[in-house]
Amino acid sequence: MTETPQPAAVIVLAAGQGTRMKSALPKILHPLGGKPMVGHALTAARELQPGRVAVVVRHERDLVAEAVGRLDPEAILVDQDEIPGTGRAVQCALEALDSKAQAAAAAAGLADGEVVGDGIEGSVVVVAGDVPLLDGATLGQLLAAHHADGNAVTVLTTEVDDATGYGRIVREKDTGDVLEIVEHKDASADQLAIREINSSVYVFDADTLRRGLTGLDSKNAQGEVYLTDVVAFARSQGLHVRALLADDPMLVEGVNDRVALSVLAREMNRRIVEEWQRAGVTVQDPATTWIDVDVELAPDVTLLPNTQLQGATVVATGATIGPDTTLTDVEVGAGATVVRTHGSLAVIGESATVGPFAYLRPGTSLGRKGKIGTFVETKNAEIGEGSKVPHLSYVGDASIGEHTNIGAASVTVNYDGVHKHRTVIGSHARTGADNMFVAPVTVGDGAYTAAGSVIRRDVPAGALGVTAGQQRNIEGWVGRRRPGTAAADAAAGALGAESGLGDQAQRQLAQQNAAGAPTAPQAAATQAEPADQAPAPGADKEGKSH
Ligand code: UD1
Ligand code: CA
Repeated sequence: MTETPQPAAVIVLAAGQGTRMKSALPKILHPLGGKPMVGHALTAARELQPGRVAVVVRHERDLVAEAVGRLDPEAILVDQDEIPGTGRAVQCALEALDSKAQAAAAAAGLADGEVVGDGIEGSVVVVAGDVPLLDGATLGQLLAAHHADGNAVTVLTTEVDDATGYGRIVREKDTGDVLEIVEHKDASADQLAIREINSSVYVFDADTLRRGLTGLDSKNAQGEVYLTDVVAFARSQGLHVRALLADDPMLVEGVNDRVALSVLAREMNRRIVEEWQRAGVTVQDPATTWIDVDVELAPDVTLLPNTQLQGATVVATGATIGPDTTLTDVEVGAGATVVRTHGSLAVIGESATVGPFAYLRPGTSLGRKGKIGTFVETKNAEIGEGSKVPHLSYVGDASIGEHTNIGAASVTVNYDGVHKHRTVIGSHARTGADNMFVAPVTVGDGAYTAAGSVIRRDVPAGALGVTAGQQRNIEGWVGRRRPGTAAADAAAGALGAESGLGDQAQRQLAQQNAAGAPTAPQAAATQAEPADQAPAPGADKEGKSH
């Protein structure tokens, strides 16, 4: 088998509005599989290794141009003028490609007597920007058929049950060659019965295309310049026009509205999931598992139901993700587990554990065997090997060393209302529950902090940082201040039973309780009676370290 020549160019049609999407966003920028529709066309186009890729733009030109520039910086942007139609779009693209080719030829220098040619030579592939499942392999088959059969035009077609809206393929009875493509709105009753449709994906001989486009008019039901009319031109020149029928209609189906978008998005996902399953990934529930095209998974990764892996997420072998987890641009290390987690732009180390109910914001990096536990939010946080943030905490703009444990319900207070500041906690530190680290602040290696501390000043290595005040117990407060409540009754009962108070003591207690109880309960909490000030013995063990 001879090798198929590479095409001179691929032209991607992306100037249309996509009215039926009813969207401010141009149709071809609607995403599926984590990429705008036109991105899939560009990926497929590049697989043919063409001389050039041109993208025709008009509707929301700047938005589309920006997206194309990001997706494929080498692509040439071509502006379509106010004349509508797919034929006009290709005219504009071909003119741009031809003048580039002529300029290149002139720059390369011509031998005496040589003239600058008409422009590009060989084959030109045209694809609509709204056919997201079209892949490089199918385009390759189309191109191979084009050359093998010596065609002037080769059209990719398929058979559908409902051909409403599509251009119909009219074939010659004996040879099966394509006679013409008739748009739905221009079709006769007989032609409307044809189920073979034009996918808007073609290979043209460059010269035939150039000559065919010159003669196009817009005398049709839509008043547009139809690319499909080049087929009739080629036939009139006695050239071969043939069709490659794709068995799988999904591959060539265009998106016209949001119903089709969701159908094709699900189908794209189904194919991606199946590919990963065949590559050694366990996917427990393919129907609820969504994997973007650019995600990379190693063998023996396990994905549990309701997992979405987006963007450039990479998961190493043996890791388990899910259930109910969304990761965008996250790197997951080997053997890690990530349960009921929402994360983006984060790195999760080997054998680390995350969740359930964790929120990893950009810049989170969790070391090997580290832990980000339940109801924990992290951002711009480096958490070292073996370090743990197990419960109910916020760690933002922070560095935590290795093998450190952060107590439950702790917060790095990183924002002073104007600037963000960093918290640095060393290795082998153990911070108490309910700590506030008021940044900028540093806790040294091997340091401890007491429960309930508000750490505003650095804690040196090996020190215990304590800020909580001494605890006072005001004896009998409930009985005096909340008489007659269930709490007071319970206290009286407990005190009676525990202390084994005699009759007289009990009576005294009752008298005390009855005396001068204020009626406003809030006032009680803030008023301090002199008698209440006496510190309870042994109220605060930590107090000794002051
Ligand atoms: C076109 C085909 C039809 C085919 C169908 C497949 C023609 C005349 N008809 O019809 O035979 O069955 O696609 O979906 O070609 N575009 C431009 N500039 C324009 C108009 C369209 O760049 O002036 C682009 C669109 O952005 C889109 C593609 O061309 O990517 C197809 O345009 P669309 O309006 O969807 O064409 P259809 O009427 O569906
Ligand atoms: Ca269409």
